[in-house]
Amino acid sequence: MTSIWEATAQRPEGPVRTLHGDLRADVAVIGGGMAGMLCAHMLTQAGARCAVLEGKRAGLGVTANTTAKVTAQHGLIYDSIVKREGPERARLYYEVNQAAVEGYRALAERVPCDFEERTAYVYAQGSTASIERERAAYERLGIPHHVLDHAPVPVQNNGALGMEGQAQFNPLKLLFGLMPSIEVYEDAFVTDVEGNTAHTAQGSVTADYIVYATHYPLVNVPGLYFMKLHQERSYVLALEGAQPVDGMFVSDGGGYSFRTYGDALLVGGGGCRTGEGPGPDQGYAQLRRYVGEAYPGAAERYAWATQDCMSLDGMPYVGVHQRSHPNRYVATGFSKWGMTGSYVAARAICDLIVRGRSDVQGLLSPQRSMLSPSLFSNLGVSAANIVKPGRRCTHLGCCLAHNDQEDSWDCPCHGSRFDAEGEVLEGPAKRPIKPESR
Ligand code: FES
Repeated sequence: MTSIWEATAQRPEGPVRTLHGDLRADVAVIGGGMAGMLCAHMLTQAGARCAVLEGKRAGLGVTANTTAKVTAQHGLIYDSIVKREGPERARLYYEVNQAAVEGYRALAERVPCDFEERTAYVYAQGSTASIERERAAYERLGIPHHVLDHAPVPVQNNGALGMEGQAQFNPLKLLFGLMPSIEVYEDAFVTDVEGNTAHTAQGSVTADYIVYATHYPLVNVPGLYFMKLHQERSYVLALEGAQPVDGMFVSDGGGYSFRTYGDALLVGGGGCRTGEGPGPDQGYAQLRRYVGEAYPGAAERYAWATQDCMSLDGMPYVGVHQRSHPNRYVATGFSKWGMTGSYVAARAICDLIVRGRSDVQGLLSPQRSMLSPSLFSNLGVSAANIVKPGRRCTHLGCCLAHNDQEDSWDCPCHGSRFDAEGEVLEGPAKRPIKPESR
């Protein structure tokens, strides 16, 4: 399935740059998605020699499959940050994410990427209590907002909370536009990191700093990221001939999302934990049934699925990967808000490397407390699936489930996916399914 971004963005002309032999750089960034490319862009601008190692093609992993909402809204997160971390940290979270919106705005002035300012809304599908609490948090934190009595989307709802000054764009137009100024090596799948050296089958990069920007960190130990992350899939249809919406809308309860791109309406939904669906009432099946009823005259032009890394508390993990290796950094756990998350992570890691400190090193520290109900949920899923009989995942051996709608084998434990031939579609697994376990 091809996303509307892949179909409409033009990759820079010229041959693919591949790695041959060993090279030295100041920083090796592993992963050529939005987080890695922005990080490399910022570091290069700061005067560092930065080499990006991308296992396949830059931008064509998770970034190609986002819905590309550029917003600090992040669902209903501010009330919970205020309660958990206090208002100062909640305000900081807003400020750095709003700075990311402004950062994209500035980049879009140089790189045409269909950047458009929009209000981001969360609509209430049932009770408005959560929206009311979130609105109170916005007022306390001074976040510009307004409330709608009814969100203008074809879903029963009881109003919406809008965060003003947000945006939408085409992420691949931006990423491809930045690419010529970045030293990016493709087909450079990193198999291992030893000391200061990242190894691929074609060569290696030795650098003072290593940045893991691989969506899901490729190292299990140290770090234990597999305990504090799980992955979710959700599905998107681009419709032609559907009533447009004025703004970007998400539900407060796992319902449908809406935004426009040009004449197209993008409708998202049908999500599930990777490896636990999609069932017949989820995924593309659910989404197509819904748009058939809500937009009977519309035609489907593109369909694609997103894969999101979910942190334990809804905030990304950005900073030192593990204290025993202070020159290795990580950016992950964007929890469905990968555009602003990528920018915030790139800015923070650039600051840590160049200035030795970042404004968010406490707030987003990957070493922050793991105590949360989500941790026990993750451990429970792993415990159940490690003993279940069936085909085994090559990451840590959990039982895979067949995803009938996408014809893939998906892992409920940490979200690896394999195609029908057993090749890896999504990590953290690095090796295909062994023939004897198929
Ligand atoms: Fe970790 Fe499958 S993704 S065991």
